Amino acid sequence: MFSAMIINGLFNQTIAQNVKSQIINGNQIEVTTPEFQLIIQAISLNQNAQVDMLEFTYLPSKNKTSWHHSYTVSSDQRAELLKNKLPAIQVKKGGNTPTTELYFLDKYIIELETNPFHLAVREIDFKNSTKDLNNQYANSSVILRDNISLPWVNEDHKISKNFEIQEDYFIGLGEKTGPVNKKGNAYTMWNSDVPAYGLDQDPLYVSIPFYIGGNNAFNYGVYVDHSSKSYFNFGAACDYSSISVEDDHLRYYVILGHSISDISSKYRALTGYTPLPPKWSLGFHQSRWSYKTQDEVLTLAAEFKKKNMPIDAIHLDIHYMDACKVFTFNQNAFPNPKLMIESLKKNGVNIITILDPGIKVEKGYPAYENALKQDLYLKYPNGKNYEAGVWPGLCNFPDFTNPKARNWWSNSVKFYTDLGISGLWNDMNEPAAWGKEVPSYIRFNREGHLSNLTQNRNIYGMQMARATREGAEKLLNKRVFTLTRAGFAGIQKYAAVWTGDNVATDDHMMLSFKMLANMSLCGVDFVGADVGGFMNPATPELFTRWMSIAAFTPFYRAHKMIDMPTSEPWCYGDINTEINRYYMQLRYRLMPYIYSAMQQNESPVLKSMAYYSNLSPFNYSQAFSDKFESQFVLGNGLLIAPVRSTAKSTEVFLPTLPSSNHWYSIYSDQKLSSNKTHFVNAGMVQLPIYVHAGAILPEIVPQKIENTQSKSDTINFHIYYNNVGLYEGYLYEDDGISLNHKDIPKGQIRIFGNAKDQDITFKIEKSNGFEFPYKTIQFVVHGLPESKASNIDDSPKPHIFEVKNEVFVANSAKVTETNIPHFAIKQDLYKIERVTKTEQPIYKFCVSMPSETFHFKIK
Ligand code: GLC
Repeated sequence: MFSAMIINGLFNQTIAQNVKSQIINGNQIEVTTPEFQLIIQAISLNQNAQVDMLEFTYLPSKNKTSWHHSYTVSSDQRAELLKNKLPAIQVKKGGNTPTTELYFLDKYIIELETNPFHLAVREIDFKNSTKDLNNQYANSSVILRDNISLPWVNEDHKISKNFEIQEDYFIGLGEKTGPVNKKGNAYTMWNSDVPAYGLDQDPLYVSIPFYIGGNNAFNYGVYVDHSSKSYFNFGAACDYSSISVEDDHLRYYVILGHSISDISSKYRALTGYTPLPPKWSLGFHQSRWSYKTQDEVLTLAAEFKKKNMPIDAIHLDIHYMDACKVFTFNQNAFPNPKLMIESLKKNGVNIITILDPGIKVEKGYPAYENALKQDLYLKYPNGKNYEAGVWPGLCNFPDFTNPKARNWWSNSVKFYTDLGISGLWNDMNEPAAWGKEVPSYIRFNREGHLSNLTQNRNIYGMQMARATREGAEKLLNKRVFTLTRAGFAGIQKYAAVWTGDNVATDDHMMLSFKMLANMSLCGVDFVGADVGGFMNPATPELFTRWMSIAAFTPFYRAHKMIDMPTSEPWCYGDINTEINRYYMQLRYRLMPYIYSAMQQNESPVLKSMAYYSNLSPFNYSQAFSDKFESQFVLGNGLLIAPVRSTAKSTEVFLPTLPSSNHWYSIYSDQKLSSNKTHFVNAGMVQLPIYVHAGAILPEIVPQKIENTQSKSDTINFHIYYNNVGLYEGYLYEDDGISLNHKDIPKGQIRIFGNAKDQDITFKIEKSNGFEFPYKTIQFVVHGLPESKASNIDDSPKPHIFEVKNEVFVANSAKVTETNIPHFAIKQDLYKIERVTKTEQPIYKFCVSMPSETFHFKIK
């Protein structure tokens, strides 16, 4: 403890602490040292009586009055969680020294060394242990241990917790650049306006203080429940990891669970799920800074129709306003916004308007006067309203941490909803201000507990999005689309997030997909990046490649900076227009799959390869390789391998899943096994996309795809033959717009398949009481081998199934031209390269709504 004493002497801080007392109080352990009180609270997320997480609260003795307020885990929600049943804590002396206390909680042990203080969380290996506590301790291993010599540091306004590093990886932290595995790096949480951010710049616009640490033996998650400026160090220039917050106390949750999927699911249960968005908002969005007149907007929408390209939304950037003032429309440029919006809506196109927080300081401007009168702006310590320059000029900023200001803003949104606007885009809400540095002493109301920028900057954007969303939803009484640039843990409840002002480069494009999957790991599923790159013109190849990959990201919007050449999907030459159309339409054909994935979001909707790392040693060996970092899986079945714009081939890693050991190319049905990596074609018309064996993809094929309202009489379920024998598919449908009340009409189809010898039996579970809008359900079976002996990498041969009393018997009829796989691309459209004509079969059979089970035989 020599070093501790030196530090002590120099800075008057105590590092080494002897525990004075430890008390058990229900599911809480209270540990007191001369410097702090620590409360460890066990939490279960449900009634299973299982410990899902441990909440640690450090209260320095001199800050006994610390007040913890969380915008992410509300006190009501926490109180509810604390009502859940938990097993009693069992206490034992023991461990490695006579001064160690052991607390047994369910599958875990908290090991408290009392002299001097440090902690470890251990996981018990129940497979190899008996009921005896000594034996359980012997069969447990550490998943998170304090740094023994420096477990905690209190620098008055900054509290740090330090841990030993035994992890191979640290993943998470939401919107961060750099590698997926963050080991060896350090990050700051401080929402920032960062136009044209660098490829490893930090911090960016959104702060999510949640990460998962682990190796191939264990995982745990840490959520630091502070919107204060915070810091995460995963061994950058030091040999321990640490979390630090600029606050007078520290609360964090250690989320327990064996796998990455388990922990990310529990994190969502704690911080909230992405609500199901209006279906139209999953369609294509066209934006630029700015479409400046009513005529320009109407012509734009008409052009999409003419070019046979689907579109569901057009964004109006700052020029729609009168001198950039929110809650106004420029009357000259948009003489009749209501009429414009109505007529666009009739054609299935929704208008989304931008709303910045800065309110122009201008006498007579109603929004400004109104908020002034009610005293709703952020303040200097002397009570004067904080002023800074943004687009409209000198502005005041509503204090969104004040419930009165949120309420005022929510009501003010009526200006937009009255015009028929169905989507609102919150920008510049870090908040951004010219000169960038908002003084640290700016005062925020924080629900009546005055505090400064340090505690509130990271939460400002999320509270703005909350006020926008809650206001619009209440006014319209239906789902609305909200988009935000800044956010914090839990932002998924209020808005979709886009990754801000990126750049039209291949590096940015490749970076964007890892950022999006990283956001999704941290609970934020409705995410996207500016397609084509915001800053600078894109090359035709880059724009087109980005359009094709982003077709598989939840938020799909092309956006462009002011003064750039036009950048709509038809602006990059005929061939690229054709390719853009193909991938846009493919997204719409797969809309039932995408919508269902957004609805079934207990786990991340976008999954990076890291998500699969625990499933097999091979996955583990590849998942963190930088070669595969941008790959992602949308939903549960579709893997996309992003490639740079001019690539002609690439290497892909197809992870092993518990229920299947190979994947299919969606273009050719070629099978690729999942225990090796593959070099594959990746030309412009063949973005590598794979679907895993056993997946069932719902697809619609409307005659003309104009928007998400385009109807299809038929729904196809694409069934991908699985030699392991298991299948699973899911379709969720509702009217796409009503708020998700219990009583809205909705329906689900689940298909489970099981194979035994040559027989594959499918069980279909349909929810009652919902009329699916399809006349025909068509099953399209891909990849069925001609004989069981066929090799996994073999190409299957054609079969067509006949329907006979719901028994589908394969015959050997040749597949005709019209029977080519649904996802094939017609080669004659493209001059830049030929797509190999598929020789693989498609098996189709049409039935009207089938009964509960059916099976087919392989002849
Ligand atoms: C910010 C936004 C960008 C927008 C621009 C003008 O830079 O990030 O998307 O176009 O402001 O409003």
